[in-house]
Amino acid sequence: MAVIRSVIRGVGAYLPKRILTNDDMAALVDTSDEWIRERTGIRERHIADHDELTSDLGIAAARQALVRAGIDPVDIDLVICATATPDRTFPATAVRIQAGLGVTKGAAFDMQAVCSGFIYALATADNFIKSAQSRRALVVGAETFSRILDWEDRGTCVLFGDGAGAVVLEAQTQVGGRDDRGILATRLRSDGRYEDLLYVDGGPGSTKTTGHLRMNGREVFRHAVQKISSVIEETLVASGYAPEEIDLYVPHQANKRILDGIAKKLGIPHQKVVMTLAKHGNTSAASVPLALNQAFEDRRLREGSMVLMEAMGGGFTWGAALARW
Ligand code: ACO
Repeated sequence: MAVIRSVIRGVGAYLPKRILTNDDMAALVDTSDEWIRERTGIRERHIADHDELTSDLGIAAARQALVRAGIDPVDIDLVICATATPDRTFPATAVRIQAGLGVTKGAAFDMQAVCSGFIYALATADNFIKSAQSRRALVVGAETFSRILDWEDRGTCVLFGDGAGAVVLEAQTQVGGRDDRGILATRLRSDGRYEDLLYVDGGPGSTKTTGHLRMNGREVFRHAVQKISSVIEETLVASGYAPEEIDLYVPHQANKRILDGIAKKLGIPHQKVVMTLAKHGNTSAASVPLALNQAFEDRRLREGSMVLMEAMGGGFTWGAALARW
């Protein structure tokens, strides 16, 4: 039976020019290149200029995705920006991206699920497309986490960076079979009991300040492998595909040891894992589309590739998406 699917037509990314290496971090806090590389796999991170906002990063990534998709911004009817570091408390960063691109149709809104934001936004856009409320959607993950880090806390400031990535989705009618292109299944989860393990200690409604990121890294790590593996398994069961049918595993780029643990648990071979965190650290909602973009530029992502994406973040929130490129 014919079905409407959200086909990923283009991907783009943007990283700010300024780079802070692990040695640069060692000049700021009591850490070392060796410690950061061994515990996380991160080598450097990009930091936005003072006058560079989350929407600027998002617009740059979106422009590249639109050009690659061959789609004019005026034909976009949905913009979702996944971010935990919006330009302003309101309006939504997505609306600023919409204006910056010259999109005037449809709706634009932000998605707040921290590091899982892109997966949440992708699933939401997919549902808008499948229910025929949207035909062409822009899904952006953009963050300036450098603005919410405590630059004196070595346990967190070495882990994160700034960046943006974007994909363009288009409604296409497919046969409804195993070879369909587009998003094939998504699964989203959250559990608010874990808030204290990863949060920002400020906000407009509580402290009237922006606040700083606080994390119990060891506990987050303990939950990550189990929760992400389980939502991936649910997503595969829902779609009817087996782990060995995945061509590329594009995970949230938080920590190499977490990714290795999940890949091992699910039996995904090392060569199928896209790992970009060495170059930009954890960019929260931007990390999955940044990794997708790298795989595309490396020609590892081709039409027909079966791609598994996942993320976990503050909340906790977590989720996975399976798509055929
Ligand atoms: N440099 C040197 N030493 C450090 C640093 C640092 N940057 N940070 C912490 N340490 C020290 C600690 O103070 C501690 O010292 P102590 O034993 O004298 O008290 C020691 O290193 C061990 O600290 P742990 O926190 O137990 O180190 P761990 O091996 O757990 O690694 C890390 C820490 C890298 C944060 C790890 O727990 C992790 O990656 N957790 C996942 C966090 C994450 O990815 N969060 C992102 C959002 S959620 C997600 O995306 C899945």
